[in-house]
Amino acid sequence: METIILGIESSCDDTSAAIIKNNTILSNVIASQAVHEAFGGVVPELASRAHQQNIIPVVDKAIKDANISPYDINAVAFTRGPGLMGSLLVGSSFAKGFALARNIPLIDVDHLQAHILAHFIQEPGAQREVPSFPFLCLLVSGGNSQIILVKDYLEMEVIGQTIDDAAGEAFDKCAKVMGLPYPGGPLIDKNAQLGNKTAFTFSKPKIQNFDYSFSGLKTSFLYFLRDRLQENPAFMDENLPDLCASLQHTIVEILMEKVIKAARHTGIRDIALAGGVSANSGLREAITIEATKHNWRTFIPKVAYTTDNAAMIAVTGYYKFIKGAFTSQDATPYARNMVW
Ligand code: KG4
Repeated sequence: METIILGIESSCDDTSAAIIKNNTILSNVIASQAVHEAFGGVVPELASRAHQQNIIPVVDKAIKDANISPYDINAVAFTRGPGLMGSLLVGSSFAKGFALARNIPLIDVDHLQAHILAHFIQEPGAQREVPSFPFLCLLVSGGNSQIILVKDYLEMEVIGQTIDDAAGEAFDKCAKVMGLPYPGGPLIDKNAQLGNKTAFTFSKPKIQNFDYSFSGLKTSFLYFLRDRLQENPAFMDENLPDLCASLQHTIVEILMEKVIKAARHTGIRDIALAGGVSANSGLREAITIEATKHNWRTFIPKVAYTTDNAAMIAVTGYYKFIKGAFTSQDATPYARNMVW
């Protein structure tokens, strides 16, 4: 049976809509919000206003790009949380209205589970290799750093997570200290490619189990820069690539140490990356190197499916649709992480 699902994502500052036929993506439209750049971070009120403006044109384009009619859609999947409440309300209200008008099922999707299931998105004409269950997924974004044991499409267990800042937050906050605009992660990555990753060393946390901590690194980076700038006001300009490369190297080492530990502990050799930080070139390189050493199969989604996108919401919607896991019109969005 062919199932066509409309996916809607509006958890933060990207308004996105996608159409999927079973697990094959037909369209994925994203409207990003430049309005936040001037503020050095996402302004929640501005984000929800921009979602209001974008949602209808984005859905309309997704339907047109997929070359289908709105009447072909069998179900609507939307991000229920976690995210910014005002942003989530726009996507969820639209999804509810659409489902009600068409009298089709409504499917609520957890944004973090969707990041993981992005690995199962197929594109027309090319069958992509997918991880086998159980696999481990390192989910690293602006709001999360977690190691997840993925037992099945909808059966996941968080086995490690950050006790303070997320890896993306560490990138962005350190970038801000260096005067780089938001989001700083991609700019650190770009500069790092021209620098020496062993030029400077920063302290690494000693945290139990498979958990992470990034707040100490951020503080040590801040103090390091303050001291160097006192000695030489031109220190930053003279050393930006080396600073970025050394910082990136430290963050990647912290992330990889726990992934290696978790893989060893569970005996699992299918390892996946997910979330915005998985676009990082240092992390991609490190996981590839470790894969050779430990005989892992590694899975990294296309960059378009690692940042916030509705394709991952639609594919998760498909796996929930198969199970008949629908929600009702009174499903309210949630801002914080759910315990699965
Ligand atoms: O998953 P995502 O798009 O959004 C949420 O967090 O919801 O992740 C965004 C995060 C930001 O912190 C951004 O700086 C980081 O991903 N990021 C990167 C890179 N690309 C995006 N961090 C390091 N290197 C990159 N190439």
